[in-house]
Amino acid sequence: MLRMNSIGCNAVDLDIMITAGLRAHSCIRSILAGATLCLALVGFEPYSAAQAAVPASTQNANRVEHPSNVQLADPKIETRVEHLLRQMTIEEKIGQLVQYNDTGDASAVQTSVAPPAVVKPRAMDALNPVSANHVNAMQLAATGRLGSMLNTVGAQRTNTYQHLAVDQSRLHIPLLFGADVIHGFRTIYPVPLGLAASFDPELIVAVSNMAAEEASTAGIRWFYSPMVDISRDPRWGRSVEGAGEDPYLGAVMARAYIRGYQGDDLSKPGNVAASVKHFAAYGAVEAGREYNSTDMSEITLRQVYLPPYRAAVDAGAATVMSAFNSLNGVPASANPFLLNKILRGEWGFNGFVVSDYTAVMELIYHGIALDPATATRKAITSGVDVDMMSHFYDTQLPGLIRSGEVSMDVIDEAVRRVLRVKFATGLFEHPYAEGVEVTAAVAGHRPLVRRAAEESFVLLQNDKLAGGAPLLPLSPASRRLALIGPLADDAGDMVGGWGSAGEESDIITLRQALAERAQQLGGTLFYAKGTKIDDVSQAGFPEAIKAAREADVVLLALGESGRMSGEGGSRANLDLPGNQQQLLEEVVATGKPVVLLIFSGRPLVLNWAAKHIPAIMEVWFPGTEAGHALANVLYGDVSPSGKLPMSFPRAVGQEPLYYNQLPTGRPPTGIDLSQPPSGEARFVSRYIDVPNSALFPFGYGLSYSSFSYQDVKVSMTSIPLLRALANRSTPLLEATATMTNTGERTATEVVQCYVRNLGASIEQPVRSLKGFERVTLAPGESRQVNFPLGFNELSFFNLESTPTIETTHYTVWIGGSSLANQEASFVVVSPTRDGDSR
Ligand code: BGC
Repeated sequence: MLRMNSIGCNAVDLDIMITAGLRAHSCIRSILAGATLCLALVGFEPYSAAQAAVPASTQNANRVEHPSNVQLADPKIETRVEHLLRQMTIEEKIGQLVQYNDTGDASAVQTSVAPPAVVKPRAMDALNPVSANHVNAMQLAATGRLGSMLNTVGAQRTNTYQHLAVDQSRLHIPLLFGADVIHGFRTIYPVPLGLAASFDPELIVAVSNMAAEEASTAGIRWFYSPMVDISRDPRWGRSVEGAGEDPYLGAVMARAYIRGYQGDDLSKPGNVAASVKHFAAYGAVEAGREYNSTDMSEITLRQVYLPPYRAAVDAGAATVMSAFNSLNGVPASANPFLLNKILRGEWGFNGFVVSDYTAVMELIYHGIALDPATATRKAITSGVDVDMMSHFYDTQLPGLIRSGEVSMDVIDEAVRRVLRVKFATGLFEHPYAEGVEVTAAVAGHRPLVRRAAEESFVLLQNDKLAGGAPLLPLSPASRRLALIGPLADDAGDMVGGWGSAGEESDIITLRQALAERAQQLGGTLFYAKGTKIDDVSQAGFPEAIKAAREADVVLLALGESGRMSGEGGSRANLDLPGNQQQLLEEVVATGKPVVLLIFSGRPLVLNWAAKHIPAIMEVWFPGTEAGHALANVLYGDVSPSGKLPMSFPRAVGQEPLYYNQLPTGRPPTGIDLSQPPSGEARFVSRYIDVPNSALFPFGYGLSYSSFSYQDVKVSMTSIPLLRALANRSTPLLEATATMTNTGERTATEVVQCYVRNLGASIEQPVRSLKGFERVTLAPGESRQVNFPLGFNELSFFNLESTPTIETTHYTVWIGGSSLANQEASFVVVSPTRDGDSR
């Protein structure tokens, strides 16, 4: 069950896409032909020789002064790279920049470089270069004209290709095998959005390292992960692949993934190279619609969207994937501002950039290239080193080099970047899959992925019942349980949309786990599916109602399928799909206490449930150990500790909705927004039909215990501006609070520290997360928590795109969510003439 992207996923999808693509193709071809003709008539050449003659030094402004990855800058590697580069033909160099998936035809493999095929590239053929252009990846590998492969998995398959490259190609350069291992290879942990809810970077290091170990036994040495796109709009299906709406949390998670995948040495067996994606600002696609465009100010880009990518690059990420979207009118896969200026120039990134799937070809659809040659030139000179699947670099670069439109320097530099990663990962020494191949979920990894799932669950509501106790954890007296809903026994959907190579047969569903419990505890479990995830038939309702009536407590497992989020999974509605809402209402009408478990890849609108159901828990897609983890939390063996990484809205129309908004000139302070406006209450920033706030905000999540916060303080109330500006590496002050477990059981709480900066030259968010910590306390136990605040936490980007601090006022809150209300404050002051600070 290897799940691939929308184009690579399965034959049926592929056929549909090809047909659609070819239809669109004839249309685009006539548009292109027409456009070229018009331009010719007005005497304008689509591409002029003058443009072509960009000096090599300008095309290749990529010298890296302070390399982001020290291992890639190792002089020993450099010597090997140069030695190899000197021996390579132009075809072999271009080969390193080409990537295809598994399109091998062993019968056609020859060991010599065939004369260049006469290829007449057509724009739409590239959508499926494999079939439309008869690409034979085996032939390419054997003749040194393929550098890397995607989603070709398994020791046998990768070794077959690797032998062709290593044994038969002239220079024996190994292939690099990349794959979308997003949240586990065979042993699957929660989807990244769920993992982010754990606020536990050490956990992320552990699970991602585990995935790297498993996948490398199948020949995979490169992950297209982590996706670190900030997503403030849950309509965007790919929200599930990232860490949600907050740049600080996103950056912490990004660093953790890189540590987990790459370790401290890329060449160590079991470590893989990471590809940070999708650079950049893909998460801000307009209206949350997949593959749409992004438009934002440079300040928002730098302050909100770039920090997680930056964190990943600083942590040494070996590769970056350029995104599908355009940013302010320039597609990210031909964007010198993003790739050359920021990524390489400012951040010193010294790995290589791979395009997203056919993103080079898509430059034609973006309308910035009229033909494949222009798309290719724009992509490579903007800093895209490797062409994933477009069939453009291999067909277009030879001509572009011959005509001088792309200099050999640009090609050589791109090849160097690829070779550095290949040397650093130790591929030349260990080209083949090693160790015993992991082909199923690993028993020894189950406890870790179970813990990851337990930490990912977010308890949204847990009201007290008539007897005075909250519904969760389940009381031992509730011996008769009804388990209802399409996700209660659905193994496939426990792995979400990117389950990599996880097998359904390895997955423990909630039904299985609760049946085990019922047996241990001597209780009874009634199960009824009730309905399908997205269906109109109510045929299963009566059985579900009957099960509910017979039970003491009902557990409802509702939500989305894995495929409803992820790539191509944008939704305009955020409610429960199909007739699940009706099922929910009918079950609640039985009067039985209901626990609602929401499986989803994004925040949903849960207004009705929040009004009528005592206990609600968001459980995302929990992975291989889904059932056991859920049972452990439902029965109280583990107290929930997850916090929301994205705000849950009250209505789709509020989107994009996020806690760290900019202020408005008409804040609705002191106005009851739950009532329709009258009089003055209308002329504030508000909706007339729904409150502004989230139903469940960022950072929110309950526990089976409770926590209080006292004595929020700062270690300095006044900081001299010069000191704040001069000191970039050590904290300027510390914010502290005393927290106490006021409940009756040991539990873990994610303490959060938020900051607001008032009085700056650029308006700043109403609050921003600047620190968090998971703290476990016994009942009655107290602890002081400390959050160091320095330049990174207190600075903002000014109009010159420079991070700075000004003489302003700061408020700090410490508490258990973005609604934390215990505060302290301090000021940054300017020096006076006598040297004092005021
Ligand atoms: C996705 C990427 C993925 C790539 C390779 C693309 O369609 O956007 O996230 O890594 O395919 O499968």
